[in-house]
Amino acid sequence: MAAGDSQGALADAGAADLPGGLGHVFPLGSRLNEAGRLEIGGCDSLELAREFGTPAYFYAEDDMRARARATVAAFRERASGSEVVYASKAFPCTAALALFAEEGLLCDVASGGELHLALRGGYGAESLYMHGNNKTVAELRQALDAEVGCIVVDSFDEIARLADLTADGQRVLIRVAPGVEPDTHAKIATGQEDSKFGVPLAHAARAIEAAEGAGLMVLGMHAHIGSQVFDLEVYETLGEVLSGLGKFPVVSMGGGFAVAYTRDQRPPPPSAYAEAMLSAVPNDRQLLCEPGRSLVANACVTLYTVGTVKEIPGVRTYVAVDGGMSDNIRPMLYDAAYEAQIADRFGESTPCRIVGMHCESGDVLVPDAALADPRPGDVLAVPATGAYGHAMANNYNAVPRPPVVFCRAGDARLVVRRETYDDLTARDV
Ligand code: LLP
Repeated sequence: MAAGDSQGALADAGAADLPGGLGHVFPLGSRLNEAGRLEIGGCDSLELAREFGTPAYFYAEDDMRARARATVAAFRERASGSEVVYASKAFPCTAALALFAEEGLLCDVASGGELHLALRGGYGAESLYMHGNNKTVAELRQALDAEVGCIVVDSFDEIARLADLTADGQRVLIRVAPGVEPDTHAKIATGQEDSKFGVPLAHAARAIEAAEGAGLMVLGMHAHIGSQVFDLEVYETLGEVLSGLGKFPVVSMGGGFAVAYTRDQRPPPPSAYAEAMLSAVPNDRQLLCEPGRSLVANACVTLYTVGTVKEIPGVRTYVAVDGGMSDNIRPMLYDAAYEAQIADRFGESTPCRIVGMHCESGDVLVPDAALADPRPGDVLAVPATGAYGHAMANNYNAVPRPPVVFCRAGDARLVVRRETYDDLTARDV
């Protein structure tokens, strides 16, 4: 797909093909087939559920590629030297890392484990940016041994730890807390001065001096101000702040590109982020951006099976599925809203609350949903689960974590298998 085409595809995002104005929340190319069943990457969702079981994460591979291409094109068209760095924490899966490496994106890793996965996914170490607000000596050594392209140093203590490891000549960015605050949920805001991340702005000059004094090669400044950023003016302010800290070759502005979790959300296209980010950065600098969720969130639909439908007269109807807070903890942590539909019966006749199977009242996936007459045995589709779902999955109630399946042109391939009960005891000694 040419870059221009993928921009167009993103703008439409299949909206015409799904009822209820839901098209842009589901993966590109999703549609209801002749049997009225949701198709993901050309695969029939009921057949997917039967073949791979539920709950499971189904990704449309072409969606991830289209978003990667559109994002790279948006930045390169405006500044040819700029780079898109995939924030792998959003979906730390070797198959996805391989896909984004193939698409020419660089990669942000935020721990020794993510570094391991990125190398396994086929990334060359030189393409990696090693993040983390409290990297251990072991992780720093791992990064140096692997010869990662750049370490994003977060504190004076970390500069000292690197100096102890005689990291002479290692290329670094210095992360600052820029005091730039987007309008987003407090738990995913990181730009404020009162933050565990980054060097206080007032100490930036001293951090540069310390890093250079320790023999590190300071390439530039970095900040990540938060996630789900819809109002782009903050990036203009951020560009000014970071460029003003010294005449370094690189300015790295983090991620935060917003996605549509629900039908009413209309995130700006990648071109708008590129415009805003580049607007205040002098054109002799290289701009780096680090989107995570916007490359993967809408590519995925989680399929569940409905088990119990309980009507409490005069109160509400509960629809319980076979997953919940173990495969998607975002509603509980961030009050994140999601859409849901019966996979072969889109519609909204029955107001209900969609809950999981965990022993916890807070295990609510969608508090105020509307489904078409939900019944036991139905397959429930929850879109926009591709970012921080698999990444933050857990084994609460000893529930095995779901598999990841990539769908493309009618073919489905398992890229991460479902956990087994044996996996649950595999670490016992
Ligand atoms: N760069 C850095 C340095 C970051 O810390 C992050 C996210 C990103 C890039 C990517 O942000 P994105 O484009 O994905 O918004 N678990 C939370 C998100 C925490 C994000 C942490 N850092 C959630 O599920 O919303």
